[in-house]
Amino acid sequence: MAQRPTGVKTSEASASPARFRSKHLLAIGDLNRFEAEQLLDRAETFEPLLEQKVKKLDTLRGRTLINLFFENSTRTQSSFELAGKRMGADVVNMSVKSSSVAKGETLIDTAATLNAMRPDLLVVRHGSSGAAALLARKVDCAVINAGDGKHEHPTQALLDAFTIRQRLGKIEGLNIAICGDVLHSRVARSNVALLNILGANVRLVGPPTLMPTGAERWGATVHHDMRAGIKDADVVMMLRVQRERMDGGFFPSAREFFWFYGLDEDKLKFAKPGALVMHPGPMNRGVEIDSIVADDPKISLIETQVRMGVAVRMAVLEALAEPGSNQETR
Ligand code: CP
Repeated sequence: MAQRPTGVKTSEASASPARFRSKHLLAIGDLNRFEAEQLLDRAETFEPLLEQKVKKLDTLRGRTLINLFFENSTRTQSSFELAGKRMGADVVNMSVKSSSVAKGETLIDTAATLNAMRPDLLVVRHGSSGAAALLARKVDCAVINAGDGKHEHPTQALLDAFTIRQRLGKIEGLNIAICGDVLHSRVARSNVALLNILGANVRLVGPPTLMPTGAERWGATVHHDMRAGIKDADVVMMLRVQRERMDGGFFPSAREFFWFYGLDEDKLKFAKPGALVMHPGPMNRGVEIDSIVADDPKISLIETQVRMGVAVRMAVLEALAEPGSNQETR
């Protein structure tokens, strides 16, 4: 893949939809390098559209996208909603709190009910790992995993990779440190997988209590000392401390976590000069990241990540809805 300087479009930037072998996007493992790069190229063609006054295409006119979120979300749900609407689809946001799920309907019954309405795309977030894959076996349409438990969040990884590529012109060969609560992070799992496919050198940094057993076999080096872990990094990607998934004491206090693993100006000096900072959001300020770093527009890509998410999700929706892109497996 040609490496491109920031903001420069190449003739290679795909003017046609990305093609998937897989019917669904449940995990980064559903993509090979060619497919992932095609998606990023396609997102590159959509990104300028988001700055225009009229932002709408009619590529998905007549198609129905259902957003089914069993867990809270600000960025992902609104981003899929916007992406679907920008592509001309009819978008339905299922409110789980006011749906029959609240009356005890099972996930499989919910899937059967939604399937009867013949959607074209189903975007699912659920607190249990494997829930999106289970739904995918019960419905006829394409399913996109918008985060399942501690398992994966593939479109977050795609938007992170897109953000890095747009800013630094490449991913191959970059040193990227993913830091903090790796144990509970679906974002970390998807990012390690995708960044490996795209040729980055990936490090995982965090306390032993928040590092999954066998993390060194994911395709990353594992570090427990933050300064050593981010040394000469081009990108430092912080993770949210996920207290809602913790059923015990993983660290003594937020204050102590910040002292050892919170990204502040002092620790960031160990990364490469000009290193960029990312965070998938929502942030715990003063726990995993200091506001001075998070809010510095010269180094922080956090708002850019959110913007890029819409373009990437447009590319994903288009690829999965495009007749013929994945017919072999339909
Ligand atoms: N990054 C992310 O998944 O954010 P939300 O939980 O707000 O969707």
